[in-house]
Amino acid sequence: MLSFVNYIKLCASRRSHLLTKTTFQRYGYSTIKLTSDNYPNLKRNDNFKKITSDDLAYFQSILTPQELIIAKDKDELNLYNTDWTHKYKGQSNIVLKPKSVDKVSLIMNYCSKERIAVVPQGGNTDLVGGSVPVFDELILSLSNLNKIRSFDELTGILKCDAGAILEDVDNYLKDKGYLFPLDLGAKGSCQIGGCVATNAGGQRLLRYGSLHGNVLGLEVVLPDGTILNSMHSLRKDNTGYDLKQLFIGSEGTIGIITGVSILTPTNPKSTNVSFLAVKDFKDIETVFKRAKRDLSEILSAFEFMDMKSMQLTKKHLAETDGSMTFPLENEHPFYILIETSGSNKEHDDAKMEKFLEDVMGDETVIDGTMAQDVTEIEKIWKWREMIPESCQSEGAVYKYDVSLPLSKIYSLVESTNAKLLKEDLLYDPVKNPSGPVIGAVGYGHIGDGNLHLNVAAKEYNKIIEKCLEPFIYEAVSELQGSISAEHGVGLQKKNHLHYSKSPVEIKVMKDIKNHFDPNGVLNPYKYV
Ligand code: FAD
Ligand code: MLT
Ligand code: ZN
Repeated sequence: MLSFVNYIKLCASRRSHLLTKTTFQRYGYSTIKLTSDNYPNLKRNDNFKKITSDDLAYFQSILTPQELIIAKDKDELNLYNTDWTHKYKGQSNIVLKPKSVDKVSLIMNYCSKERIAVVPQGGNTDLVGGSVPVFDELILSLSNLNKIRSFDELTGILKCDAGAILEDVDNYLKDKGYLFPLDLGAKGSCQIGGCVATNAGGQRLLRYGSLHGNVLGLEVVLPDGTILNSMHSLRKDNTGYDLKQLFIGSEGTIGIITGVSILTPTNPKSTNVSFLAVKDFKDIETVFKRAKRDLSEILSAFEFMDMKSMQLTKKHLAETDGSMTFPLENEHPFYILIETSGSNKEHDDAKMEKFLEDVMGDETVIDGTMAQDVTEIEKIWKWREMIPESCQSEGAVYKYDVSLPLSKIYSLVESTNAKLLKEDLLYDPVKNPSGPVIGAVGYGHIGDGNLHLNVAAKEYNKIIEKCLEPFIYEAVSELQGSISAEHGVGLQKKNHLHYSKSPVEIKVMKDIKNHFDPNGVLNPYKYV
């Protein structure tokens, strides 16, 4: 039975950098195929100019050597050309890292006039191939624009540069008694501008809502170099179209976000994290219903993981971090991570106790543990946040990030595994030792109806891709779900938008793109 000992409640923790540049560097680059070789149907648009020595001379005239990476720095260039999943690799020979908004404006003005294609890049943690070039597009990195501009301790309104790293900003805010309303496993690398550009969701959306609600203003450099300054700090402003909303989730296709103004909530004084096990997916629904009812306003995260995703994480952590022991003694079909955050420890304890008594009492929850200090909170979160890295530790991962009605969510993982088995792709040490796929696993922000369906594989190959697509997109469309809950469209889903958007919606999106970027220089080949 359950051993929920010592309900020790804790102040909100500081999580360590889970994702750093060294994580990228652990893997080799030579084996990664170029996107242009992998997708031969994609053709370079010859209207885009190949960068000449005159262009280079212009960039050198406005930038210092620290703001420019060129062909001779091959290893560094690889880092910017290759995406996090190692599925996409571009061939850019130039990365610009301007230190001021004015320089971003000069660069875009020049590139627009000269028809030089540009890929804006933040922390390069994008999971849909959006942050790296397809061919030889110039990479414009926001990393050198990374300052906090201002913070109002009364209202909680933060203004910062787009290139500030999420975890750094969160730590800054915590010192002031606030926190960033978005949290995700890539926080050690991803940038505020990149998060806004993808409208990232993450683990706190359940509590604090989406960036569409929290962002109050943006500063954006338009494709022709015009600086659109709307760094407002007003919660209410009905003077015309809400322009900033267009850029939130636009994935670098209509403008370069250089500044963000955002409303941040106060940092909760008391945090609890529990890690529970249930025997089937239906029980997750029951636990979620009760968590909403009994934990109500203090519920801050409700995540799920299936057995296979935890097995992969166990294996990966055993190889990379010996200090991580699994929170439970036995394995179970499904796990739930519940976090509560509040301002009154006694009140929060009482709520959590009553809730746990309830779900344990009738054995809806069959096993579980509760973090007893900050270190344990961090460790439990690490078991959840290391799943993405673990899923690709065998070599490759096909990632699907979907929104579905809660009751239908797990059937997609089951039907995907059934299809992989039928097509003889699933690895089995005895029956199919050469099977290239480890398996389809499910985890995600179940409280938001968001499933991460990951197919862990030994390599990227066309046979696996054909088995999975359009099968998964069709299944999601039939259930009236979304083929991208939070990761965006990028290159991966560009040709699949019609599974979630009508022809009229796609046409209006194309009109918007053409309005802002008539020459199509910003992040070409992607999105629409
Ligand atoms: P990048 O990856 O560099 O870029 C993302 C896109 O935005 C690209 O299309 C790029 O061109 C564009 N872009 C970047 N910066 C700018 C800018 N300043 N102006 C205009 N366009 C720009 N996503 C979630 O939603 N929820 C999660 O829980 C989550 N967890 C993750 C966990 C891991 C381990 C990883 C690797 C990724 C995760 N992601 C998640 C995906 C990813 O979308 C986020 O990490 C983040 O939003 C990307 O930020 P970035 O700075 O790395 O942007
Ligand atoms: C997550 O929730 O862990 C992220 O969205 C990343 C992923 O799914 O790989
Ligand atoms: Zn996610």
